[in-house]
Amino acid sequence: MIRYLADRKSWILEDTVAYAFGLTPSGLLVHTYFGAPLPHEADYPLPADFPIPVPFSGTDENSGEEYPAWGGFRFIEPCLKADFPDGARDIRLSYNNHTIEGNQLSIMLEDIDRSVGVKLVYRISRSVVERYAIITNNGREAILLEQVLSGALTLPDAADYRLTYLSGRWGAETQLQRSMLGKATHVMESRRGHTSHSANPWCALDPDGASTEERGPVYAINLAYSGNWKTVVQSTPVGQVRIASGIHSFDFSWTLAEGASFETPKFLLTFSDEGFGGASRNMHAYIRNNVLPLGHRNELRPVLYNSWEATAFDVTADNQMRLAEIAAEIGVELFVIDDGWFGARNSDNAGLGDWVVNRTKFPDGLDAVSKRVHELGMKFGLWVEPEMVNPDSDLHRRHPEWAYRYPERTSSQMRNQLVLNFGRPDVQEFAIGFMNRLLDETAIDFIKWDMNRVITEAAGLDLPADRQKETWTRHVQGLYRVIERVRTSHPSVWFEDCSGGGGRIDPGILGFYDQAWISDNTDAFDRLFIQEGYSFGYPANTMVAWVTSEHSFLGRRRLPLAYRFHSAMAGVLGIGDDVSRWSDTEKTQAKGLVALYKEIRPIVQQGSQYRILPPGTGSLAAVLYVAGDLSEGVLFTYLNRNHYGNPLPILRLPGFQKDRLYEVESGDGPAQTMSGRALHLVGIRLNLREEYESAIIRIRAK
Ligand code: DGJ
Repeated sequence: MIRYLADRKSWILEDTVAYAFGLTPSGLLVHTYFGAPLPHEADYPLPADFPIPVPFSGTDENSGEEYPAWGGFRFIEPCLKADFPDGARDIRLSYNNHTIEGNQLSIMLEDIDRSVGVKLVYRISRSVVERYAIITNNGREAILLEQVLSGALTLPDAADYRLTYLSGRWGAETQLQRSMLGKATHVMESRRGHTSHSANPWCALDPDGASTEERGPVYAINLAYSGNWKTVVQSTPVGQVRIASGIHSFDFSWTLAEGASFETPKFLLTFSDEGFGGASRNMHAYIRNNVLPLGHRNELRPVLYNSWEATAFDVTADNQMRLAEIAAEIGVELFVIDDGWFGARNSDNAGLGDWVVNRTKFPDGLDAVSKRVHELGMKFGLWVEPEMVNPDSDLHRRHPEWAYRYPERTSSQMRNQLVLNFGRPDVQEFAIGFMNRLLDETAIDFIKWDMNRVITEAAGLDLPADRQKETWTRHVQGLYRVIERVRTSHPSVWFEDCSGGGGRIDPGILGFYDQAWISDNTDAFDRLFIQEGYSFGYPANTMVAWVTSEHSFLGRRRLPLAYRFHSAMAGVLGIGDDVSRWSDTEKTQAKGLVALYKEIRPIVQQGSQYRILPPGTGSLAAVLYVAGDLSEGVLFTYLNRNHYGNPLPILRLPGFQKDRLYEVESGDGPAQTMSGRALHLVGIRLNLREEYESAIIRIRAK
């Protein structure tokens, strides 16, 4: 899988893709190839210095270095930039040695005359290459790191590249964006302390913008990090396209003491010549098989009910039990009480930080509720927001110094809350302590972990003034430590990631949480767009979606119950409506749809996803999931607009076994028998009539 070719001074990582790099005659460590594996070693390009001198530029910045440090003629985005005590600020790395241990390649680089060591670590897992760097100060004085990215990738020459990325805002996360690169430098980033609603670290590039959903080369990347990050896509002066990604350098610095090391988050790279669909499926498989926490990795996600939209902060034992009884009747497997169960939390003004059950709302404590939910045959879940505190809380009155703030200045509040300094060991111990207590004292099977504001005034009294810029990074490290400790003590508990909807979703957080709440927008039509964007980088078994009211709080339309279910069933199904208002007919319909979801859930959650018709393209939207053994598929279709009585477009369905015969049932007319090849080449036409009519088409091998 990993080879060193001494005569070619090259390393090759090979699995279902190949990634190669090596040392040029002048000693630069440069990228040589990323794509489909090549049959012969000699097929991989030899590492070469840029062939011609470029005045006002240099060989270094044009040769495609794997990990350029800022120094010499390098004006491109550096991976590493540091300040030395004597005022020098350049680093020039040269190769020292390498090791190959199983599926891990480590390349050791060293600065030519300063004692900085850089270890580049590479692994390959099927079609995904993982890269990260460890910077070590081997000198005798501290150095100040100003930028430490995880890595850089150089793309093959092309006239231009198209950049596909995800942007958005609260309630409208993961909106798909596309633009040609041209000669500008593109930066996607978060400076908000979490991954952000406004940008996601997943992005993809295709040469000349010529690849399609299922055809052509696509390079996709992601960054396993849940704080401030940036991805810089730029052309060198000679038109070489480079992508560098890592922890954001904005308001960042890190004092690296003598002998200390700094490890970057993982930079993930994939390649597919089956278009964007192929690149997405690569990332889905990688996140499902390599990233998600081991405990529940291969388990089907339960159908959940969450009471937030039904009762908001007015939770009581009585109203929750009423909802739980109906949820159980409908077939729900996990009942979750959201915000409002603790302290003086009657609105968002008070109580955050006081993680003790509110006895006025729950006179017999949480135990009684948990017991009843279990008796109803469901798992029991609870909402928490451990990184936050309301100024009006006992916790803040006890520990005002735990919230981020500049000395002698007022901190900004959002949703009436402040952020706790999760970099502090005592704050981490507090969070680990109350979480463990909560999980030890009550039978809780599931935690929804929220984060409802961005970070401002990122500073605390725990660090000296010249190290305050470490705060952003220390928050993320602290969060990872806390959740890891809590999970280790309670391995059977499920954890859901949330940050006011999808504000903190990335392959870093998904290493600790089993699934994610991807948006507070529960309008089932808007959701199709958010879910489509999400699916470019993330698998359906992490994508929680609730069925809420006919007229959602953000939507400007009324949507039928079936459409709302069909939209949510394309991910991890949840129900978030006030089910006590549902009529018997609605409950019966819901029960049938939940039962259907349970049947198709293995295909949705663990199969291969094909975006057949994106919601933005016209009248109809469609997404297909095909089981791993190709024996079955589920096609979700939504008629969103219909003009001029046009017939609906034909849906051509890839992904099935070409010569196998399948029965296509729509529930509307007799089943049709078609081969996998015909499903792809001939396709099927649906018979939906009304706007917001939807259907689930099951396709099963005969
Ligand atoms: C934001 C989340 O996204 C919602 O689902 C809900 O949990 C609220 N926070 C509760 O405060």
